Amino acid sequence: MKKKVLSVMLSVAMAATCLAGCGEAADNGSASGDSGAATATTDAGSDASADAGSDASADASADASADAGSDDSGAGKKVGIAMPTKSLERWNRDGSYLEEQFKGKGYEVELTYSDNKIDQQVKDLEGLIADKVDLLVVAAIDGESLTQVLAGAKEAGIPVISYDRLIMNTDAVSYYVSFDNYTVGKLQGEFVIDQLDLDNAAGPFNIEFTAGDPADNNAGFFFNGAFDALKPYIDEGKLVVPSGQTTFEQVATKGWDTATAMNRFQNILGSNYSGGEQLDVALCSNDSTALGVTQAIKSDYAGSNSVLITGQDGDEANLKNIVDGLQTMTVYKAVANEAVATLDLGVALLNGETPDAGLIDASGWSFDCAYDTSSYDNGTGIIPSYLLVPTVVTKDNIESELVAPGYYTMGDDGYPHPTN
Ligand code: BGC
Repeated sequence: MKKKVLSVMLSVAMAATCLAGCGEAADNGSASGDSGAATATTDAGSDASADAGSDASADASADASADAGSDDSGAGKKVGIAMPTKSLERWNRDGSYLEEQFKGKGYEVELTYSDNKIDQQVKDLEGLIADKVDLLVVAAIDGESLTQVLAGAKEAGIPVISYDRLIMNTDAVSYYVSFDNYTVGKLQGEFVIDQLDLDNAAGPFNIEFTAGDPADNNAGFFFNGAFDALKPYIDEGKLVVPSGQTTFEQVATKGWDTATAMNRFQNILGSNYSGGEQLDVALCSNDSTALGVTQAIKSDYAGSNSVLITGQDGDEANLKNIVDGLQTMTVYKAVANEAVATLDLGVALLNGETPDAGLIDASGWSFDCAYDTSSYDNGTGIIPSYLLVPTVVTKDNIESELVAPGYYTMGDDGYPHPTN
């Protein structure tokens, strides 16, 4: 079921793509795909490559040419890729990688970003369907809002891959590609247990939770993974939540928005920590929320201890904070590999196949991936899923986990910068 480690291809064109697309705060919201990310990419297959696999010692060139080599087997077919927003860093990387992968196989690509606006994403999808794409790869803004538009895709015979976030209540979705979302949260919870030595230390320690967007089906999995790991210690009284906010609904952050997370956390600090109480842990589901929480701690926390702060994604600003000791860890998900898995699944679907666990072996991926047919029910039944494996990154292993494999380069400023 599982295969080990690979290299993926990074290209000069991808670096150009990032210069054009990454870090832009606004999306073009257009279905024509004329965003920076869409226009900057050229033929992936002919670009210089670097080893971006999770095994630093893996042979770069061999895998790279196999993964994103230029061929024209997709000629004449078009792939529609709908990403949520450019304002949350990772989706810039996803869009670029996906585009590079499909273009490398000769497919035409239309890439849309919808500014985190549900109506915009529905319009963008309508546009892609009207443009007669042969395959849709969709990272939903709101997992519950695409039922109607995707019924149109089904009617037109367009297969839909639910990318990273599960799209709910539609039988138009054929497959789901993501990381093991529950494990992401579990890794955060276990990191806290380990760092505080909760099995031996007397405690009690104070902890506060910040979770993601309730419209994102992933957000509950992340929160539950972390909370389930920590609950025994909360029940025991070794971990205390002074705000009393322990349900997903109470700790969720609309749109995964940094400012929203900051404001909520400033309120928590003002109401519960202004009398000299010590905050030990801020469990944050991802990096965009961790950034807001870190800002709130900087501006509004009176204590002098360094607070253990978790995150997810390896966003550039958060890695800087990790190097500077302001954030403690992030859970890294190699979206380059997520794009490779999506490509091979997409090609199989476009060839009229019905992929299953065999796709993993047949594709020769060298990263870990599990085929799961029990965990993700979107309300119309179980959606067969390809789930990749996340990794814990701290100051101590940035070099080995992120820089050596080629996902980031270490800048002269002493901070890691994404390579795509
Ligand atoms: C993704 C996370 C990301 C979050 C906000 C989730 O669906 O899985 O990686 O941090 O969205 O962009």
